[in-house]
Amino acid sequence: MKFSVFHTPELTPIQNAADCAIAIDVLRATSTIVTALSAGADAVHVFSDMEKLVHESESVLPEKRLRAGERGGSKVAGCDLGNSPLDCTPELMGGKQLFISTTNGTRALQKIQASPSVLAAALINRHAVVDYLVEHQPEAVWIVGAGWEGSFALEDTVCAGAIVQSVADRLGCSLEELVGNDETVGAVALYQRWQDDLLGLLHHASHGKRLLRLHCLEDLKYCSTLDTLNVLPIQSEIGTLVKHA
Ligand code: MLT
Repeated sequence: MKFSVFHTPELTPIQNAADCAIAIDVLRATSTIVTALSAGADAVHVFSDMEKLVHESESVLPEKRLRAGERGGSKVAGCDLGNSPLDCTPELMGGKQLFISTTNGTRALQKIQASPSVLAAALINRHAVVDYLVEHQPEAVWIVGAGWEGSFALEDTVCAGAIVQSVADRLGCSLEELVGNDETVGAVALYQRWQDDLLGLLHHASHGKRLLRLHCLEDLKYCSTLDTLNVLPIQSEIGTLVKHA
């Protein structure tokens, strides 16, 4: 396995060469997707465009669907919910199709959707992602951070580092054997520095600060916890994620 970390969808090569590609948006899209599937959602459909989301979701009965929309950290008017994983309760999610569009996270997933295997990762499901990688051992693994509007995000990079470090530990191999680009070395170093205070790191992150201004401290706490949900979202068809069996 060789890992290549890309900090944003914009920095990800257009020509997809990954055997397995992983999108990360710790704050908060992939944390929300993991939580929705864990809470019983049947599937999550991701869109970068709100109008397309509304149009495509019309094909599902209103009682079987939920629309989630976020821009700038806030809920999009007219949607059932915004992008807080804390809203993804079993009562709300059970048996539903979730249609979601967020500022950056859903764009990261779209960027890698042509890969043979597409996963969604967050700190909360790091373990489930690592289990999959250790079992399948794909040759080229791309990790794409959502970032924020084209810029680097600390929270996505630290999660990438947490995944690579854990794979190295589980396989008993050196980081040298797993590293495919310089960004991967940086991601692991960031994780090694902050692994015991991930919430502290999220307080330094620009999007963490944005969410704190929006009174989302509980979201930060939830999204900063490692390995709490054993759920792996995997793409079943372009733009649709389901729980890996
Ligand atoms: C995004 O896609 O940029 C994020 O998930 C924003 C958020 O925190 O809702």
